Amino acid sequence: MIQKLSAFLAAASLLLLQSVSVASVDAPPASFSDETKACVACHKKRSLGVVQQWGDSKHYRAKVGCYECHKADAGDVDAFIHEPKKVGANKPISIIVSPKDCSNCHEKEVEQYTSSHHSQGGRIIGSLDNLLADVVEGNRAMVTEAFPQGVSAAVVNGCWQCHGSRVEVLEDGSLDPATWPNSGIGRINPDGSRGSCSACHSRHKFSVAQARQPENCGKCHMGPDHPQIEIYTESKHGIAYQANKDKMNMDRSKWIPGEDYDAAPTCATCHMSATANQEVNHDVGMRISWNNRPAISVRPETTDAKMGLPGAHVDWETRRDSMKDVCTSCHGDSFVENFYVQYDGQIELYNNKFGFPGLALYNAAKPLLKRPYKFANHLDFVWFEIWHHEGRRSRHGASMMGPDWTQWHGNYEVGKHFYGTYIPELEELIEENLHCSTPEKRAAAENLKAILDQVLNDEFVVIDVQSGEEKFSTGHLWFNGKMNKDDAERRMEEREEFIKRYGGKTDK
Ligand code: HEC
Ligand code: HEC
Ligand code: HEC
Ligand code: HEC
Ligand code: HEC
Ligand code: HEC
Ligand code: HEC
Ligand code: HEC
Repeated sequence: MIQKLSAFLAAASLLLLQSVSVASVDAPPASFSDETKACVACHKKRSLGVVQQWGDSKHYRAKVGCYECHKADAGDVDAFIHEPKKVGANKPISIIVSPKDCSNCHEKEVEQYTSSHHSQGGRIIGSLDNLLADVVEGNRAMVTEAFPQGVSAAVVNGCWQCHGSRVEVLEDGSLDPATWPNSGIGRINPDGSRGSCSACHSRHKFSVAQARQPENCGKCHMGPDHPQIEIYTESKHGIAYQANKDKMNMDRSKWIPGEDYDAAPTCATCHMSATANQEVNHDVGMRISWNNRPAISVRPETTDAKMGLPGAHVDWETRRDSMKDVCTSCHGDSFVENFYVQYDGQIELYNNKFGFPGLALYNAAKPLLKRPYKFANHLDFVWFEIWHHEGRRSRHGASMMGPDWTQWHGNYEVGKHFYGTYIPELEELIEENLHCSTPEKRAAAENLKAILDQVLNDEFVVIDVQSGEEKFSTGHLWFNGKMNKDDAERRMEEREEFIKRYGGKTDK
């Protein structure tokens, strides 16, 4: 009863003190705590850089010191007693400052982050996708205390630095070097919480201005399989950003497009920041209407449901409306509507022409491959790059207005490898096995041939993700010189118009 009463009083006082951010003991202190003073006095000599950065931060101004962030409960696995004479013998600290630690004062941000795909980035550890860096590229030669059997250095230095490691605490409370330093987006922390706020809020300034910069996201959102920073740099938005960096007011507390800046949007503007109608949102999935990572694009609520995230209940239309609200801070409604028609067109093209058929062909080819392990055959790499690199680039490019990434790094590469490598290699597999002595192989070759024939004759049926309708995968007839008559005639008409328009045969 007493507990209930005090809970009620706490709730009531929260209501009364709405403008005060927190009511817990971890609220920013009125003045620097004695523990923090001790940390600062000594660390000024040891690591002046840390103290200086903190001195420049909003935390310093709010009297949130070293101890307020690094303090730990005695029961925490990574708690250790540090300089007991100065700090106190019963005042353990930890090196890791996890989202749970930040949540003492920033509950809303942590809740949103924890609901997002970002917090799930560490799920790749041990997953099938990890095969590449674990086995294909790596070995187990890197041995540390937490990994007596060894761990792949490719995973440690590659995947984990973006996706996050599982931080392993050693007997003496120190952290295993294979797992820390690490600020991966979905890091699994010793206290069980997910992620790392310093993935975007670099310590010890925790500057919002830095987090708003595109380069901040570009640490991870780059490269052949998700070149978002490169696409942005190519886009009109990236150009306008470069030209007007100094007019963006990045360090304002309130940062609303149209009100506080209008020159250009950054990644944060579109995916996270406030607008005149929306608050800042630390769930970066809340404004995207497609998940373009899989071999076939799907709606984000579908993947959220698979991961057990609350986003399972937020449909793609709602998310798209939230994004449109960002765009219309600077653009007119019909401009934005038309953009989405262009973008959806590219998703449908890739999904239906290459994604669905490509995946079906790969699955049908598997029983015929020389080696039964993924990435042990050339064909494994060909299909992987078609969807995971090139097919993504075509979709990502269109989603963020980077035409070169859509075309030459995207659709062109998809077409080149689909027709120039993939199909010829599939045809070879069919030829090798169609008349072989093993009945299973013969059957598999017949099956693969049947699917390939359907695809090349525009008779392969797909379920269009956008409309839910059955459609044919079209656009393959040309490959065997079977382009249908109407299409061929239309192309001829276009040729004639071209010649009329430019007078004579002035083809480039
Ligand atoms: C009397 C000096 C002294 C005081 C007081 C002190 N530290 Fe340290 N701290 C050090 C030294 C020296 C190191 C480096 C130890 C090493 O190299 O392993 C260190 C290391 C650290 C580390 C990194 C540990 C690692 O293994 O990377 C953290 C985090 C840290 N201190 C935080 C704090 C906090 C928070 C406080 C206040 C609660 C504090 N320190 C108070 C001297 C001090
Ligand atoms: C707002 C919270 C916050 C405050 C305030 C804070 N730290 Fe940290 N500190 C962090 C975070 C986050 C990390 C990164 C650890 C991780 O990956 O979880 C960190 C890491 C460290 C490290 C180890 C990393 C390195 O670069 O060597 C040291 C040492 C450290 N802090 C010392 C201090 C000292 C000294 C102060 C006070 C002057 C301080 N911290 C204030 C959040 C904070
Ligand atoms: C003890 C309470 C407390 C803890 C713990 C804490 N903060 Fe803060 N934080 C504050 C206060 C207070 C402010 C200042 C608010 C203001 O001035 O508007 C702040 C401001 C911020 C800002 C805004 C900075 C800016 O430039 O506007 C960021 C980002 C931030 N904190 C991130 C973190 C992260 C990440 C952690 C954990 C690693 C953390 N904080 C831990 C209390 C805390
Ligand atoms: C440069 C940072 C970086 C590295 C290194 C990296 N990734 Fe990623 N990974 C990302 C980003 C960013 C995304 C999300 C891309 C997007 O949304 O378009 C992602 C997405 C993924 C996904 C899809 C997740 C989903 O929800 O669909 C998987 C699986 C994945 N990565 C596995 C790996 C593996 C395994 C490695 C190492 C072999 C690796 N990644 C290396 C940054 C990285
Ligand atoms: C993907 C990058 C990213 C990560 C990870 C991230 N933040 Fe932020 N955060 C931002 C950006 C960008 C802003 C600035 C939003 C804006 O434009 O006002 C911000 C703003 C903030 C603010 C200022 C208050 C506000 O609403 O404007 C706080 C506090 C904060 N973050 C805390 C956290 C905490 C705590 C975590 C870890 C749970 C975290 N952030 C993780 C990018 C990130
Ligand atoms: C430390 C690496 C890292 C940083 C920094 C980072 N991201 Fe991510 N991001 C990822 C990874 C990994 C994923 C894929 C997570 C998954 O689904 O497993 C991802 C996914 C996303 C998604 C897809 C979300 C969804 O629900 O499908 C968006 C949008 C996104 N990030 C935007 C941003 C923005 C904007 C920033 C900068 C403000 C940023 N990211 C910074 C690693 C990062
Ligand atoms: C002008 C607004 C805008 C800017 C600026 C912007 N994006 Fe996007 N982003 C979008 C739109 C629109 C989509 C597609 C949304 C949808 O599917 O409905 C998208 C999609 C994404 C996705 C999802 C990709 C996937 O695989 O499903 C990621 C990740 C992402 N953006 C990251 C970034 C990063 C990182 C930056 C900065 C380098 C950035 N964005 C800049 C508007 C923007
Ligand atoms: C902060 C303002 C701002 C926001 C928010 C914004 N844009 Fe833009 N947008 C611009 C500016 C500035 C240009 C460049 C105009 C020019 O170069 O003439 C531009 C150009 C464009 C272009 C023309 C691309 C080209 O190459 O011709 C498209 C399409 C576009 N934006 C779509 C969007 C979409 C969709 C969103 C929301 C997802 C969005 N914008 C959000 C400011 C913004």
